[in-house]
Amino acid sequence: MVIEKELALDKFVEKPLKLVSKNVAPVFISQNPAIIEILFKIRLIANSQASVLITGESGTGKEVIASLIHHYGADTHRPFVAINSAALPKDVVDNELFGHEKEAFTGAVSKKEGCFELAHNGTLFLDEIVEMHPQTQAKLLRAIENKSIRRLGGKEEVKVDARIIAATNRDIPASLKSGELREDLFYRLSVIEIHIPSLRERKEDIPLLVNHFISLLTKKYGGVEKRFSAESLEMMKNFDWPGNVRELRNVVERVMLTCADVVITPRYLPERISGSTTNDNYIKIPIGTSMDIAEQMIIDQTLAFVNNNKSAAARILGLSRKTLHNNLNERSTGAC
Ligand SMILES: Nc1ncnc2c1ncn2[C@@H]1O[C@H](COP(=O)(O)OP(=O)(O)OP(=O)(O)O)[C@@H](O)[C@H]1O
Ligand SMILES: [Mg+2]
Repeated sequence: MVIEKELALDKFVEKPLKLVSKNVAPVFISQNPAIIEILFKIRLIANSQASVLITGESGTGKEVIASLIHHYGADTHRPFVAINSAALPKDVVDNELFGHEKEAFTGAVSKKEGCFELAHNGTLFLDEIVEMHPQTQAKLLRAIENKSIRRLGGKEEVKVDARIIAATNRDIPASLKSGELREDLFYRLSVIEIHIPSLRERKEDIPLLVNHFISLLTKKYGGVEKRFSAESLEMMKNFDWPGNVRELRNVVERVMLTCADVVITPRYLPERISGSTTNDNYIKIPIGTSMDIAEQMIIDQTLAFVNNNKSAAARILGLSRKTLHNNLNERSTGAC
């Protein structure tokens, strides 16, 4: 079951960072029961103002979930403003969050509204919340509780009412213990907690995501829609994906761009995924590989070793050129 259809999500928003307003629902592809539960839960909470804390490893889709919560709210024209504390030094984060008055500091030539003000009546997404400086966390808590902020260099309180969604890929108990995440802020933010499982805990999603990114990227780059051969897909499923969905997307993009054939065979996969290396004249085949797939891996990696020179590969493999040709042809047209 593809959740995209069930929830009638139609389009995909590629990188919603710093988007101020959006009325197109992002797509979250999954058939994993824990994710399906999350997708139903966020529908239920979308119209409340309750703060949400999203946890999960890097690249699991925390920002997509945050933008979906926003999208499911009553009025999708409200602003959605995102800020990532990890990417910025403390003073810059303060300035981005709370804005400043004219001449608040050297170079402040005009008044600037911060993300909080820009998110008024909408959603403020605070990515990498644990990386935020503790003093900024204290100011943030005050702003949330009082529903008002003071711009840097300003005297007046400015009313702000934004739904807060925060995210982190860090371990919460450890961050509380080390003091990197203030406990009072944590309690304020975690009214609703959502944990997104890593991709290796939901391998059933890998083929769905591969197909999703293939069609997305075919739309982006044009040309014929490619597909992964059965053995390539198996290798994608067996890989642990430390960078989660973001890494998977990048791999799909890379192989789509570098594979000249319609069918993506293992030789186009990065070595860490195909589990093989030709660097040292050896081919490594993981335990558990079936004879069929092992045979394809030997052929593909020999071809890669001789820079795709089919005559040289056939010679090394002890095959006629015709047999090798037939094997490759069968796979690019054949049953996957
Ligand atoms: N289930 C999914 N379906 C479709 N696309 C997804 C899914 N999960 C993640 N993506 C895509 O993967 C990429 C990474 O997602 P996102 O930025 O939301 O991850 P993140 O958890 O916020 O990562 P980080 O911790 O590094 O900030 C984005 O391009 C996003 O659109
Ligand atoms: Mg993120």
